[in-house]
Amino acid sequence: MNIIDIINKTKKSLELNEEEINWLVKGFTDGEIPDYQMSAWLMAVCLNGLTEKETFALTAAMRDSGDVLRLNIPFTADKHSTGGVGDKTSLIIGPIVAACGVCMAKMSGRGLGHTGGTIDKLESIEGYRTDLPINEFENILAQTGFSIISQTGELCPADKKMYALRNATGTVDSIPLICASIMSKKLAMNADCLVLDVKYGSGAFMKNKKDAEKLAELMEKVGRSAGKKCKAVVTDMNSPLGKNIGNALEVKEAVEVLQGKVKGTLYDVCIELAADILELADKSSKEECIKLAENAVASGKALDILRETIKLHGGNEKICDDVTLLPQPLLKYEIRATKDMKILGFNCEELGMTSLLLGAGRLTQNDKIDMSAGIIMNCEIGDQLAADDVIMTLYSTVCSDFSDAAVRALNAVKFKITEKPSYT
Ligand code: URA
Repeated sequence: MNIIDIINKTKKSLELNEEEINWLVKGFTDGEIPDYQMSAWLMAVCLNGLTEKETFALTAAMRDSGDVLRLNIPFTADKHSTGGVGDKTSLIIGPIVAACGVCMAKMSGRGLGHTGGTIDKLESIEGYRTDLPINEFENILAQTGFSIISQTGELCPADKKMYALRNATGTVDSIPLICASIMSKKLAMNADCLVLDVKYGSGAFMKNKKDAEKLAELMEKVGRSAGKKCKAVVTDMNSPLGKNIGNALEVKEAVEVLQGKVKGTLYDVCIELAADILELADKSSKEECIKLAENAVASGKALDILRETIKLHGGNEKICDDVTLLPQPLLKYEIRATKDMKILGFNCEELGMTSLLLGAGRLTQNDKIDMSAGIIMNCEIGDQLAADDVIMTLYSTVCSDFSDAAVRALNAVKFKITEKPSYT
């Protein structure tokens, strides 16, 4: 086999066979195919796409480039979100499905850029250990039915290398490549059922709904072709999910949802996704699964599971009853309406970047995070505010000068002045 022939085939939109794709992925992972030739092939994919058959083969080859997890648990569920702003759904959905008898075993990552990461959120809980070995992960899963740890072992080395190269060569935005990248990691985690939350909008990877739907459909097909029970849903990320953005602030809001104190879009999305997992796990019909999920929150059973899981991870489980035990910011800055105004929309990516400026996120892998930092939104799209009403509050401990963050935050709000002009 020869790399030039493979590049030329994709350049001419001729379908590669499974053997050629396996050879390409192995050759690149082992360092035999150099970056410049792999980037030429990736660019050909960006321009011409891949067939479904090629995408299935690419995903499988990337999955098989490293370990495939085999947990000593009879049935596990996993969920994946393509990333957004204020997305703390895993912390809510995991305990809900566990309370309904479905084990949620999840490995997550850290935040980078405008999106947060579940591992950072969990590490805002004093003592919580995310770097557990597999046997401890299995012990917790056996006891509570829910655990999230950071990625362990050598999962998908092909994706690690390819994603870095795609980032450096302008070849990230290709639906088959995104699909293979995400699904290879999910399939290496090897859960029995998988719900995929594909987000679209200003805070999401996919900016428009049509592309998100295409990606969702392809990911679902790839999951099913690999023998998994799999459902992909498309959800809106034109507004932050919930009111809180930032690590400890998001854990606080997740706890408040499980305490039954917070309803609205965040609660609704979590119930819907939890019900999808329960339905995939053959618990009941979708309608019944919604009731099961709602009852897991109303009864306090899901909160009990979160409390027990945090304790088994070495964390301070008392945060489930007293959220003030989470890291508290020393400083705050309120962004207020200068006139009567109607909120028309948000640029969520800008809100994510504001949160990063406040210390809640990282621009590079090694940046340190202020766990207390972030934003609490005080309005939603369509709200009418009076002059001096608070639009949002910025929080930080490490950032004492809020001026850059405040400018960025205000630029993230689209509004219309509704105050009548006064004539004299
Ligand atoms: N997230 C991933 O893991 N891979 C992509 O290609 C895009 C988003």
